[in-house]
Amino acid sequence: MSVTPASEVLAINGGRPVRKMLLPYGRQSVDEDDIQAVVDVLRSDWLTTGAKVGEFEEAFAAWVGAKHAVSFSSGTAALHAAAFAAGLTADDEAITSPMTFAATANCVLYQGGTPVSADVSPDTLNLDPEQTASRVTPRTKVILPVDYAGHPADLEPILEIAERHGLVVIEDACHALGGEYRGRRVGDIAHMTVFSFHPVKHITTGEGGMVTTTRRDFAETLRRFRNHGISSEARQRQTAGQWYYEMVLLGLRALWEFSRFTSWNQTFRSGDKLRRATHPPSAKFPESFHRAFVLTRIRRSIYIRSVSSRKISPRAVGRFFRRCALKTLG
Ligand SMILES: Cc1ncc(COP(=O)(O)O)c(C=O)c1O
Repeated sequence: MSVTPASEVLAINGGRPVRKMLLPYGRQSVDEDDIQAVVDVLRSDWLTTGAKVGEFEEAFAAWVGAKHAVSFSSGTAALHAAAFAAGLTADDEAITSPMTFAATANCVLYQGGTPVSADVSPDTLNLDPEQTASRVTPRTKVILPVDYAGHPADLEPILEIAERHGLVVIEDACHALGGEYRGRRVGDIAHMTVFSFHPVKHITTGEGGMVTTTRRDFAETLRRFRNHGISSEARQRQTAGQWYYEMVLLGLRALWEFSRFTSWNQTFRSGDKLRRATHPPSAKFPESFHRAFVLTRIRRSIYIRSVSSRKISPRAVGRFFRRCALKTLG
């Protein structure tokens, strides 16, 4: 790739662009094993909070070196849950970096708290510990450093400030899976560390997030918060042959991406029934058609709009499905 010499005029100022096309927004590496793993889940009874979620959490915790990992529907939901687990409320402030994506400060606002910016170090663009210390007030509850562009924040002095004032450090490591700080992997250093699995991050689950922590009390609150504040998960109750549960806190549905996936699946099925009513089973519809469509979510908005507005005939819906599936299956 050619690099624009410093003397040359930038493309934005009328100079020669260094490439013809914009860089792609995201490009993923999804192989057959990944696809098969999703298919296995779709064929199982557990499309949400099933065994695979637990397996992923365990593997993730082991890899970053933390005791607990709790997964979420996005890095944003994970940040929100971490702010909740830290006990951040409307009376509290959280000191954070102005060099970040909006979700970092938004998690403080979701809890009704006040985000307070401290300046960054010019060399790393990460929270400057001295500036952070100067922003501590009696209302400060949390310090929320960001590992900007994958470079871990200077965690040791930040943890010292937290220790001195009894604060919780939530590290926004959404850019920094695999990053190391003084020989330790990010994920086991701050009180809670947050990761994102959005497609432009290091690994992806479509959308997804994780909080890692070494503290059991935080892990328990995070698990409850993501599941309506319910004291146990459905699979635990089923395994134990138990029906009883309690709502112990006001939680959210923070694994909703999975449930959205399920409802999309159901939407598809009603479309499929429509198709079957007008088309006899045909060898041209591969058996894996259904999953292929669900997996790739091709043009779901077009489909939903078409079916709900009933502007197109069931026959056309069937043709549309088949085109999508055949395209996906190659
Ligand atoms: C620093 C930072 N924090 C949080 C997020 C939010 O993650 P998600 O997109 O998974 O909600 C992002 C996403 O780009 C981010 O860059």
